Amino acid sequence: MCGIVGYVGKQNAVTIILEGLKRLEYRGYDSAGVCVQKGRKLDLLKKAGRVENLAKAAAQHRFTATTGIGHTRWATHGGVTDANAHPHVSSDGKFALIHNGVIENYAQIKAFLAGRGYTFKSETDTEVLCNLIAYHYAKEPVRAKSRQTRFVESVRKTLRHVEGTYGIAVLCVDFPGQIVGSRKASPLILGVGEHEYILASDASALVSRTQNVVYLKDGEIVHLTPESFSISTLDQADVSPVVDKIHWSVTAADMGKYAHFMEKEIFEQPAALENAMRGRFAADGSTAQFGGLNITPGEFRDLERFMFCACGTAWHACLVTEHLIERFARIPVEVDYASEFRYRNSPLDPRTLFFVMSQSGETIDTLAALREAKRKGYRVMAVNNVVGSSIAREADGGIYQHVGPEVGVASTKAFTSQLLIGAMIALYVARMRDMSFSDGVTYVNALKGVPELVRQALQQAPKIKAIARRYAQYHDMLFLGRLSLFPLALEGALKLKEISYIHAEGYPAAEMKHGPIALVSEKCPSVFFAPQGEIFNKIVSSMQEIKARKGPIIAITTEGAELPKGVADDVIHIPACHEAVLPIVAAIPVQLLSYYIAVERGCDVDKPRNLAKSVTVE
Ligand code: G6P
Repeated sequence: MCGIVGYVGKQNAVTIILEGLKRLEYRGYDSAGVCVQKGRKLDLLKKAGRVENLAKAAAQHRFTATTGIGHTRWATHGGVTDANAHPHVSSDGKFALIHNGVIENYAQIKAFLAGRGYTFKSETDTEVLCNLIAYHYAKEPVRAKSRQTRFVESVRKTLRHVEGTYGIAVLCVDFPGQIVGSRKASPLILGVGEHEYILASDASALVSRTQNVVYLKDGEIVHLTPESFSISTLDQADVSPVVDKIHWSVTAADMGKYAHFMEKEIFEQPAALENAMRGRFAADGSTAQFGGLNITPGEFRDLERFMFCACGTAWHACLVTEHLIERFARIPVEVDYASEFRYRNSPLDPRTLFFVMSQSGETIDTLAALREAKRKGYRVMAVNNVVGSSIAREADGGIYQHVGPEVGVASTKAFTSQLLIGAMIALYVARMRDMSFSDGVTYVNALKGVPELVRQALQQAPKIKAIARRYAQYHDMLFLGRLSLFPLALEGALKLKEISYIHAEGYPAAEMKHGPIALVSEKCPSVFFAPQGEIFNKIVSSMQEIKARKGPIIAITTEGAELPKGVADDVIHIPACHEAVLPIVAAIPVQLLSYYIAVERGCDVDKPRNLAKSVTVE
């Protein structure tokens, strides 16, 4: 996590860096800092707290330099203090560095450097990295020929000794107007503007200035000067850069009329879902089609198993996808947390197709799961939102979510688009097997109707807001659902705890009797998914069991379903719909409920404590 911005150009570097850091704040917001270079002088400013604190201090400071680096931090090594904020400066004062990632062998390197007179002001692994560059720089012989490359070579040597992950940007007093950057498992993008270069950990920080970008690969080093840039590898091989175009603009990442990004992203779901399905139905109207899977229909038909890996909300989307594939395509599916999969050496069947799901495409555990599966020889597909992300580039094929930038830390539109794509995968595979043409047409029409159904579900917002007011002061809450809505119970609980800090648990409704019912009292409300369907009566029985123990109940049910009188204290209706799209429609009320509860409690919805949107450390 952590946000990185570096600027080389003709404008005031701090203005551009601060704008970039504000857009990157969702990656971490414990502390922030900038360092600019004017001639042979480094000027450093760091503040614990939000980027806003730094911006206020910077306004007093009146920076004027045109080269600089800036950082917004999500703490890994060392507490949240001014001293631990980035940039860090080497003890000889020659280098300033910002870093995203974790240097695993930092303790050994620190001991090595301490024995050679280097001193440390912070507890961070980053300061160690910075000093190791200074060490190699001091050792590098100053020959006329090597003078120009001394900066970049000392970074290269340093990175060869480093274990762990990094995205870095470095300044050196002896090289005014230059930045050296590099990455390994942490994203780094170069924006190529008009007479300027911007280095950033993601495109949102630079898209207001340029849409031309170079996605750096692991093990590449970029060297920026005011006139040009060059890329090489850790092994000193030159790399020919490929300049890509970003197809979204800064307005997509703005909040518009909404109070929070999360609110905006909830309400733009009808349009987002429209975009996610555009062009993805076959001409005969009975199945889905995907352009980027790079796998033939024959190969798809021969599959015997699917494996899905993801983290957080995306993992919940995988669980729903599992349900739909097994239900409609009758193929076994396994879902694992990416962080568990990468270490547990799970046996995989040769006819397994491996999928990862990730909004950002940068979650380190998901990326590592992808690499592990590829190492074992599996073809890996990605469902991913951020175009050009690490996961998108390393996967063998994939499906983009196309919902535009998601900024709120709590995932909403990315989640429902993952559910939609999961439902489309289930349809695609089902139509290759037993699903009839007419069932396929019914399924496709249901998917096409999703944006309208979500629009209708969103109309409940004022009612849900009023309910939220009554439930905002509880300390505990249960979310209960069955079948494809069990993962929605998990997601509802996650949403609530993420942004409102209310303790919440998601359970399959019938499992509630095996433990969570002990929590039930008038002080612990339950949110029940109770749609009309085969097991409606069973769900109602579970609700009765809670009511008998005085637990308040919010029921989310489909229009037309008849809940017995008095079983629920509050009822939220969603439109009745096809099984494949029910989880998408059911997601809306829990998103709104957790959003309004968090607002009612005065929480910082878009930047919940301790969280970050994109978790690029293990
Ligand atoms: C973090 C975010 C979650 C997100 C998860 C996976 O924990 O706070 O909202 O679901 O990462 O992120 P990804 O980008 O891989 O979908």
